Amino acid sequence: MFSIISFPELPSTNDYLKHLVETHKAPDNLLIFTLHQSNGRGQFQRKWFSEPGLDLAFSFYQRKNLDSTPFQPALFVMSVCLALVKTFDTFGIKCKVKWPNDLLYGSKKIAGVLLESFVQDKKIHIITGIGINMNSHRNNDAELNSISMLDIRKVLTGPEDVLKAFEQNYESVMNLFDDDLVLETYNKALYKLNEKVSLKMNSEGEWITGILKGVDARGRLCLKTGSGIIHVHHGQGSLVRD
Ligand code: BTN
Repeated sequence: MFSIISFPELPSTNDYLKHLVETHKAPDNLLIFTLHQSNGRGQFQRKWFSEPGLDLAFSFYQRKNLDSTPFQPALFVMSVCLALVKTFDTFGIKCKVKWPNDLLYGSKKIAGVLLESFVQDKKIHIITGIGINMNSHRNNDAELNSISMLDIRKVLTGPEDVLKAFEQNYESVMNLFDDDLVLETYNKALYKLNEKVSLKMNSEGEWITGILKGVDARGRLCLKTGSGIIHVHHGQGSLVRD
C-alpha cells in the first residue's frame, strides 16, 4: 500500500513530506522515514526528540477529493492510534491510548502522532507523522516519562519490521473497521477508561477532575463530573498522567 522511501537524516519527516506535497512531488500513500530526525515536531508546538540512529520517525501522505466523503480528523486519528496499538501488540507490547493520540506503555509514552492537513487544488492533503521510541527513549515527553521498545523487549528492533507491521495493521483497520467499530475499539484501548482523571485545561490554567467515560465520534473526551457530563475538545485540555 505505501511506497516507502528512507532518508539518512531529515529535520522533520512531516515538514519534508509537506514540501513534497506542495510541490506536487508526492504520490498518494508515500511514506518517508528516517532514523535521524534532527528537528522533529510534536503537538502544540512542542519538540519531538529522537536519538540519532535509534528511533523511528515517519510520515505518510494521503489525499482526498473535497467532494468525496468528508474527512473526519478525529476518527482518522483514532484509526491511526488503533493501528499503532495493534502494531505494538505484534511485538508483544500492550499499549493504551492516552487521549487523543499518545501511545502509552503503563503510564510511559512510547509513541506519538502528529496529524496535519491542508487544502490545495480542491483536495484535502493529509500528512500523518508518527514518532516511535524504538531503541531509545530520549525525553520524548515534557514529563521525562517515556519508554522504548528496547526497554520492554530487551532486543533491538529494526525500522523495516515496525513499518511492515504498521502497514498491515493500518490497512486492516482502514479496510475492516467502520466508524462505530473504530470508536468502540479506540474506547476499549483508552488509558484510564472509567477511572478518575484530572484534566489540565489550556485556558486560564483551570483543572477539571472527573471519571473518564470515553471519547465520542467527534473525538471529544467525556468526563463525568460533580456537575454532570462535560465534553472536552482536542486542544482544550490535556489528561494528566500518574
Ligand atoms: C506528539 O506526541 O506530540 C506527536 C509527536 C509526533 C512526532 C512525529 S516524528 C515523525 C513526524 N515528524 C515530525 O516532525 N513529527 C512527527
